[in-house]
Amino acid sequence: MTSVATPGLENAPTTHARLLAWVAEMVELTTPDRVVWVDGSDEEYTRLTDQLVEAGTFTRLEAKPHSFLAQSDPSDVARVEDRTFICSVDEADAGPTNNWMEPAEMKAVMTELYRGCMRGRTMYVIPFCMGPIEAESPMFGVEITDSEYVVVSMRVMARIGTKALEAMGTDRPFVPAMHSLGAPLEPGQADVPWPCSSTKYIVQFPEERMIWSYGSGYGGNALLGKKCYSLRIASVMARDEGWLAEHMLILKLTNPEGKVHYIAAAFPSACGKTNLAMLEPTIPGWKVETLGDDIAWMRFGEDGRLYALNPEFGLFGVAPGTGWDTNPNAMRAIDQGNSVFTNVALTDDGDVWWEGMTEQPPAHLTDWKGRDWTPDSDEPSSHPNSRFCTPITQCPILAPEYDDPKGVPISAILFGGRRKTTIPLVTQARDWNHGVFMGATLSSETTAAATGAVGVVRRDPFAMLPFIGYNAGDYFNHWVETGKSADATKLPSIFYVNWFRRDADGGFLWPGFGENSRVLKWVVERLEGTAAAVETPVGHVPTVDALDVEGLGMTREQVEAALAVQPEEWRAEVPQITEWFDKFGDKLPTTMWDELEILKSRLA
Ligand code: GTP
Ligand code: MN
Ligand code: MN
Repeated sequence: MTSVATPGLENAPTTHARLLAWVAEMVELTTPDRVVWVDGSDEEYTRLTDQLVEAGTFTRLEAKPHSFLAQSDPSDVARVEDRTFICSVDEADAGPTNNWMEPAEMKAVMTELYRGCMRGRTMYVIPFCMGPIEAESPMFGVEITDSEYVVVSMRVMARIGTKALEAMGTDRPFVPAMHSLGAPLEPGQADVPWPCSSTKYIVQFPEERMIWSYGSGYGGNALLGKKCYSLRIASVMARDEGWLAEHMLILKLTNPEGKVHYIAAAFPSACGKTNLAMLEPTIPGWKVETLGDDIAWMRFGEDGRLYALNPEFGLFGVAPGTGWDTNPNAMRAIDQGNSVFTNVALTDDGDVWWEGMTEQPPAHLTDWKGRDWTPDSDEPSSHPNSRFCTPITQCPILAPEYDDPKGVPISAILFGGRRKTTIPLVTQARDWNHGVFMGATLSSETTAAATGAVGVVRRDPFAMLPFIGYNAGDYFNHWVETGKSADATKLPSIFYVNWFRRDADGGFLWPGFGENSRVLKWVVERLEGTAAAVETPVGHVPTVDALDVEGLGMTREQVEAALAVQPEEWRAEVPQITEWFDKFGDKLPTTMWDELEILKSRLA
């Protein structure tokens, strides 16, 4: 550190040399008016939320305690995948699925963007820990940001502040995560409610374990502990250290006899993770408890089983479609307050509303763009990717072991996507490699969670397409190797689910939501060897009688249609998979080509 007093450093609450040096460097580059070290206290939360209300970024909700509505700039509403880069030293390490730029070139570009970018603003330094601070090797990070919205949201999403900083001591490693809205204020210039820049970069430097983000204030682009650290950077750490960082929910399922199974599931953004994680079973005697709704870190335990841990501390859930009918546990969590809502509508009595919350919309709302809204309006009241940000501890069915640093032993892994055709309601993989093939070929129709066209089928391997921090071919290989290194009898069994198959009239074939407990029941009964299945070319699918549909009101034909494997649909899938695999050249593990050959021969 230099001897010149840098503002914010003379009273820094740490002597961590690397941290102080990095903060000093960023202060010098970005020239904020002041530096605040975030302590995570209630007083700080009150001060910052007051400030956000004052600035017009937040509207205080009269109907929910300590809760706020943020309406973003209409251009800054989702992750920006085309502006997201993996800047590995070698381009091959970013692979065909990521944007890449040489690290030095990217740093040169972004250094010029960062120069003076916090002028007129406050720099916040947020020490945080992904996963419990009490872990054997706590996973620290420090986010620098000029956004109060980010500070307030990070407090919900991660373990932040003094506790994390103290545990970092003087020399523990941490991931530096630099964020700026890219909207400096000149003297006398009035601020806008949602500052951001039309130039955006979301950048990971995998070898340095470092994140640089610029121009966006939106969740996945700005809350850097989440996708940037816990998936993109962590997936690289996991590759190097022999574990898995995945876009998965974690749930605890207890059957009527009291037997417990933990299940992890990977679905692409806006395809049902938060819903499944908080599911209320419709079948008597079954119980679901939540451990995580978006990210799982999985390592082998001493007993040879795969243990999963949720690195986050909050829920950042898709609002539209979340209602008392579909996800009552999310509604109960939200109702306790302490939440930030982004881009939903405001009711006249100071509450939030979005499409799907209640069957009857209120007669009048203020929509997410601040305009009057009535049920006759042409546009939905809320942005399709609007979100609630709520402490996970408010989840009424939170499993008590959610913050056990050891994690929980996983019995089954589900992959799933949004497909109108082809993919049956549920299929069990024949073995681990077949399961990896299911993950590697996972496909889904695009949603509003990222900018771009909605409803287009794309491959989204392991629901990680936007989040794999290295070459996806190497990532598939890491999954294959993970299976090889383990005792096969202790590995989780892999399943592929599809809640989104349609009938000829375009309606969903499967009612979904709480009824998905029927599929979980079959999954668990398969693990226990008590449920019947037919062996199809694509894996084991329930017999019509093996799936518990009692009281569901579906005809036998409807159940058959949900479970059907149509060879002609699958034959049409084969050239798409071939084209997909061809992208990876030598990096694709040969086992994936072998699995494709098995599929082809079974379809013949
Ligand atoms: P991210 O948080 O973006 O990673 O997404 P997510 O996987 O958590 O998605 P979420 O659970 O929030 O689901 C988003 C959308 O899927 C909502 O519109 C839900 O209504 C819909 N959805 C969830 N589960 C089901 C289901 O079982 N059936 C149907 N038809 N829709 C569902
Ligand atoms: Mn997600
Ligand atoms: Mn979610």
